[in-house]
Order: sequence, then C-alpha cells, then structure tokens
Amino acid sequence: MKKISILLIITIGLFACNKPENQQKEIDASAHLEKSVDSVLVLMTLDEKIGQLNLLTSDWDVTGPTMRSDYEDLIRNGQLGNIFNAFTVAYVRKLQKIAVEETRLKIPILFGYDVIHGHKTIFPIPLGESASWDLKAIENAARVSAIEAAASGINWTFAPMVDIARDPRWGRIMEGAGEDTYLGSEIAKARVKGFQGDDLSDPLTVMACAKHFAAYGAAQAGRDYHTVDISEITLRNVYLPPFKAAVQAGVGSFMNSFNELNGIPATANHLLLKKILRQEWGFTGIVVTDYTSINEMVPHGYAVDEKHAGEMAFNAGTEMDLQGSVYHTYMKVLLAENKINIEDIDMAVKNILRKKFELGLFDNPYKYLDEEREKKLIYAPEHLEAARDMARKSMVLLKNEKQLLPLGENIKKVALIGPLAGTKKEVLGAWRAAGDDNKTTSLLEALQQKNNIKVDYVKGCEIVGNDKSGFNNAVKAAKSADVVILALGESADMSGEAASRADISLPGVQTDLLKEIVKTGTPIVLVLMNGRPLVITEESELANAIIEAWFAGTMAGPAIVDVLWGDYTPSGKLTATFPRSIGQIPIFYNMKNTGRPMNEGKYTSKYLDEKNEALYPFGYGLSYTSFEYKNLQLSESQWSDSLIVSVELSNTGNFDGEEVVQLYLHQKVGSITRPVRELKAFKKIMLKKGETQTLKFKLTANDLMFYNAKLEYIAEDGNYEVFVGGNSMADLKADFIFKSASK
Ligand code: BGC
Repeated sequence: MKKISILLIITIGLFACNKPENQQKEIDASAHLEKSVDSVLVLMTLDEKIGQLNLLTSDWDVTGPTMRSDYEDLIRNGQLGNIFNAFTVAYVRKLQKIAVEETRLKIPILFGYDVIHGHKTIFPIPLGESASWDLKAIENAARVSAIEAAASGINWTFAPMVDIARDPRWGRIMEGAGEDTYLGSEIAKARVKGFQGDDLSDPLTVMACAKHFAAYGAAQAGRDYHTVDISEITLRNVYLPPFKAAVQAGVGSFMNSFNELNGIPATANHLLLKKILRQEWGFTGIVVTDYTSINEMVPHGYAVDEKHAGEMAFNAGTEMDLQGSVYHTYMKVLLAENKINIEDIDMAVKNILRKKFELGLFDNPYKYLDEEREKKLIYAPEHLEAARDMARKSMVLLKNEKQLLPLGENIKKVALIGPLAGTKKEVLGAWRAAGDDNKTTSLLEALQQKNNIKVDYVKGCEIVGNDKSGFNNAVKAAKSADVVILALGESADMSGEAASRADISLPGVQTDLLKEIVKTGTPIVLVLMNGRPLVITEESELANAIIEAWFAGTMAGPAIVDVLWGDYTPSGKLTATFPRSIGQIPIFYNMKNTGRPMNEGKYTSKYLDEKNEALYPFGYGLSYTSFEYKNLQLSESQWSDSLIVSVELSNTGNFDGEEVVQLYLHQKVGSITRPVRELKAFKKIMLKKGETQTLKFKLTANDLMFYNAKLEYIAEDGNYEVFVGGNSMADLKADFIFKSASK
C-alpha cells in the first residue's frame, strides 16, 4: 500500500513538473489558497464556524420580512459572517470594522445585494436586455453594475437570475433572459463574466450568484413560489443548462429556489445540490438559500419543524442560511445529536472562506471601501451612456404600419399621452436596487429636451383604476398633434417577485384611452413599458406603430427618443413569446408537434376559439430597414464531424441596420419526441443599406445533444432540418442526415 502511494506521489510530482508554466502556477496558487483557508479553519470554534454560515439583512433596505435587528452584536461575537442589503462605503466600513477589529479571528464580512440590472445607474430589466441578443453589451451592463456596486462597498451580487421562464403570468420573467435555453445559457455566461471580470480580487468586481436553483420558472399556473412538477428530462434539457453555463463561466455562488421540485423543496434537494451541482458539474463555490427558504420547508409540508428543516437542508448541501437563522439556532444541537456532521460543516465553511480569500478580503478587508472612488464612479457619465445604449438595443419594434417610424422633420407637434409618459419611477423596474428616481430621465423630459418640436403632455389616465376623466384632454391634445406618442403599460411592481398576474392585458382603462384616441385619426405610436409579455392583440390592431420599450432604466427617456426619431434603428428581438390570449399560456416556440398537429380537421390539437400561433413569436422584431434571407446552403447533406450552414442576408430597405440572424434545428425523429425547433446559434450583424453578406455557422455533434429517456446526454443519428431567419417562425429550410463517427 505504502509503495503504491509513494509511486503515486512521484508520478504526480513528475506530472506536475511537466505541466506548462501557467498550469503549474495555477496549481501552486490553488494549493496556497487551500492552505490559507485551512489555516483559518483550524482556529475556529464551532460557534464561529456556524457564524460563517449565517447571512442576514441589514435593517436598511429590506426585500422581505426582517427576522432580527441585533446584527451588530452578532458580528462582534463571530456569529454573523455575511450581510446583505447594506451599502455605501460609510455604512459598510462601519460593519466591516466591527468584524475585523472587534472579533477574535478578524474574519471579514461578505456584503451581498440584489444588483440585478444596475446598482445606481439602472439598466433595462434583464428580460429587456436579453432582447438585444447582444452578448457584449449585456456583459458590459453587468460590468458597469459591478463597478458601481463594488464602489459602494458591495462584493457579492445575487445575480444573474438564469431561470428559464415560459409563463408570462410569472412576474419574475422580467429578471431573466426569457424562454430559451440556448440563449439563456449564453446570456448567463456573459452576465457572470461581466460581474466577476477575470479576477475576483479586483476591487471593481463582485462575486456573482446563479439563481434560483432550480426550475423556479416552471411554477404551476405562473403563480410565484408555486409547485414545480416536471420530468427530469425536461429539467435537464430545458431548465438546467443556463446554470451549468454559469458554473463553466466560473460563477462563485448559487442560490436555492423557493419551489419544490417533484415533491422535494429545492433547498433540501439532493439530486440538484449533491448529485448535479457538486458531483456532475464539480461546483466548489457557495450554496446559499433563498430568503428563509429553509424555514419554508415547514409550510411546504416537508419538515416537521425548523430544526428538522435545517437538518435536511444542510445534509442536502445548502451551506449558507439567508435570513432564516435556522443554522444559527439549531446547528449546534443537530451536531450534538449526530444528525449532521462536522466534516460537512468544515466543508461549508471552507467554501465560504475560500471566496473571501479570492475576493482579497483577507489581504485588505477595506479594499472595496474608498469614498473617492465611490463619488467618482456612481452615475459616471460613461455608465449613463452605457445604460442609454443598452436601453436602445433592448427595444423591440413590434409594428410599423406605413413606415410611420422613424419620425421625421415633418413632425412639429407631438401629443405625449399616457400614465407612463412622465414617470421617473416605474421605468426603473422591480429590481431598481439603489437606483434613484431623481437621476432618471423620463420620456417626457427627453422629449422636452428635443429641438424643434412642441410637446403637449396629457396623462389621460392612471395605470390602474377606472377613472376616465382625463380622456377629454387627451383627445383634445391628440386632435391638434401631428403624431401621438402613447406610453402605456404596467407599474414596476406588477412584475418581479410576488407579482404574478392572472390577467396579463393592459391594466385599468388604458386600452379604452387608446380606443378614444384612435377616433381622432392622428397616427399613434404605442410605446409599451412593462415587465413581461402582455396580451395586446386588440391594441396591436389599433396602434399604427408599437415599440416594446420594457422598463428601460435610468436613461429610458433619451433611449426611447433615439429610437423614435431613428438616431438608433431598432434591432431587438423578443426572447419570450407574446400570446394572443391568456388561454394559450404556456406558449413557447420550442414545443412538441403532438400526434395530431393542427390542421383544418376537427380532431387536431387546437382551440375552438383561438389560433394556436402567438401574437408575436420568440425571436421576432422589426427594423426600420428590411432584410432578405436567401441561398441557405449546407456544406454536406450527411455528416458526422461538422457542418457549415451558410445563408445570404441582404439589407433591402432604406436604412443601415442590425439583424439578429437565428439558426434553429429540428430532429425529425428521436428516441424521445423532440421540439419542433430549437435555437442553436445566432449572430447579430450590421448591414449598410443595399449591402449583402454571406453568413456561416458551424454545427458540431454538440449542437445536437440532449438528455434521452435514460438521462444519457447524446446526439442521435437521423434526419434533421435546419431553419435560418429573423425569428423562430423562419421558413428558409434545408435537410441533413447526421451519422455519428463511431458507428
Ligand atoms: C428573492 C431573491 C433575492 C433575495 C434577497 C428573495 O426574496 O427570491 O431573488 O436574492 O430575496 O433579497
């Protein structure tokens, strides 16, 4: 035995010597890191260890029920290693000082915050950002958010939210990248990279957190926190890939989801946390609960009491307790009763300490705390410019009858109408973080700053409620204007957490207001501000042009004006389907065919009173110019190694513009039924008017892989179709046969 281990050591030693210099450096750094972590762990008492597993909110900015306010004493006693909702250099310094100057071991605190789409400078809501399909811009938005958050003393963000959402009733659809797994995975990587940069110890980066693990977006009936019951095949093929992508991008932490998954709350779910996250994906970062999600296993009916819940959560691999105080209260006794073991506690503490080392907090616990930097970076002009650019890129042109947009010099008088036209608050969205209304430029303000137009502003009605007393003035303004810009939508708190809606049409009397204005005959540009796909079937007939502007953030106003007057040609494409009616939900592009696909006959899969098609499908969005796709060609008709798909794209309209070229695959017959098509690649490209380019995509067996009924990840031999075009209904198509090389 001894001989074998000596041999092993020599072999490892030799192997290590032969490694390229960089790899060797990495191995040395990681060994050094582990040694540092162990050197702290060995000094810790059990109470101090449990303290590191505790994360509590400051009483400053609460995102849920606060469970305690005596956190300063807890820090002092080494019982609280992590805090969230505390920011500004002055405040964080005060708390960090207690940790590193008044505690026995001087272990620095992690400061977390929900920096979801900006810290002070607010970017568009993540669903909006995803509609840009611009990974560089999305990464940059996360980068800027990290810079401002870090300058404010924060070193950990509870983002990105990478939940796939196929139900627009679910309010949290606004926090993610929409309904598609491939796009969601690419965006997950971009956001993690943006937040964390290349080096966590850089004081302008923050640790990211992939949430909510897992399948939170599959809540039954779109009701928040509701039950999730899906097959493991669907879990692995649809919901997990963005999380895996986040791990591959080096994300530092994971957050549990509130939901149960097939009968077991995610917080105590061995399959998710032990088998998939740790064993299959090799994740070594922190796993934190969602807000009191351990405690919630009692009402779930999965734990007898909180102590029991703590035992199950911890044994499943949940390491840090966010706001539940369950580990704080029961961990010691659970250990004494041998319900949990010290090795697992040590492992959990090590995972947390390691991140504190990687963030550089042990070298300098005040490294994020520099008042000058804070002053300089918060709302820096280049951040506002980035937010404006991201906002323009997020907007989706849904309709443009008779090329009403862009507005030209003939427009002298504008009637700006609607409950969202003047707002500085709603446009920041539900996760406004530390964003400030007063720093926001509303659509009204941006229009007033525009030269050579006269703006007549009338609110017309509120977002909710039945009051129509403002209609008359709105109609009067519309009558005497060259164009009406009508800003309708939701309030910010109608999406986000605990904000599911059973009716996702425009609330209140907003549609009635639109109908009254239509009667004036003045052309109407409908600007929508909302946090989810809406059912706007009627409105889509009535308005002459429609821009989906989402909640576009601090620079919403100028960005919308840029798009309306063509200083920016819209290029956004929807990342979540807009249904025609609520009864169609769930509706998403990559569904299955069924044995009775819809046709004229009665006994086929359809509604008696509604079409099957979406109002606006996934991937859809217009431009001021037009694009033509032709000449779809494949390098092989049968392949095993790789395939080149090429297509010719021409800008056939009158403007330079960008197009998101999308490639979808369909496996015609599989060992399990396969979606009608799935996004596998895309490119966003700028073409001058009149320009034509040939685009090439390379496909490999990787692009065909999925989990089969035995949960094997495989690519199957057989016939496939490839579609390329400007949305998920693209009909330019070619066929190929795939035959794996091994056969
Ligand atoms: C949300 C999380 C968030 C946490 C902390 C919870 O209610 O579900 O997404 O990170 O609160 O604010």
